[in-house]
Amino acid sequence: MKIFLPDTEATLSLGISLGESLNPGSVILLEGDLGAGKTTLVQGIGKGLEITEPIVSPTFTLINEYTEGRFPLYHLDLYRLEPQEVPSLNLESYWEGVEVTPGIVAIEWAERMPYKPDSYLSISLTHGHQGDRQAEIIPFNWAIDKIIPAIYSRIHREI
Ligand SMILES: Nc1ncnc2c1ncn2[C@@H]1O[C@H](COP(=O)(O)OP(=O)(O)O)[C@@H](O)[C@H]1O
Ligand SMILES: [Mg+2]
Repeated sequence: MKIFLPDTEATLSLGISLGESLNPGSVILLEGDLGAGKTTLVQGIGKGLEITEPIVSPTFTLINEYTEGRFPLYHLDLYRLEPQEVPSLNLESYWEGVEVTPGIVAIEWAERMPYKPDSYLSISLTHGHQGDRQAEIIPFNWAIDKIIPAIYSRIHREI
């Protein structure tokens, strides 16, 4: 499923629809160049979860946890990591909900992950020619059908 995102608001809007419709335990793996809109999308997810705290890029902190929304948002950014450094982080504790309250896990630079969860939503963001963006959403072992109407009702323009 490809979605045209003409401006920042559209990226936020897509995130909001995901934040409103996904369940705790959902994992979103975000791919795309610097500036593609990954953090913007996660800011939308935060709004959808009714998190009022500002969501900032975890590029230097690796992970930011937001716990004041309907359920937690775990926002990770693997940009500064080498793939061989990733296993020691025990990322699976986030999506398995081991010793953490289950929430939405959103991971930027997911292409650096040497292993993936059993099921996840892959969202790949690319730059368009007019300063716009495009999102390609691919579910892996995941019935996305339920959330598509929510996405479509927010995002009107698609390609
Ligand atoms: N659909 C869009 N069209 C145009 N600009 C966008 C869009 N989505 C996000 N942006 C802008 O792109 C810039 C970089 O976004 P950011 O989310 O920080 O990217 P990333 O996390 O992928 O590096 C921000 O200024 C944001 O407002
Ligand atoms: Mg970012």
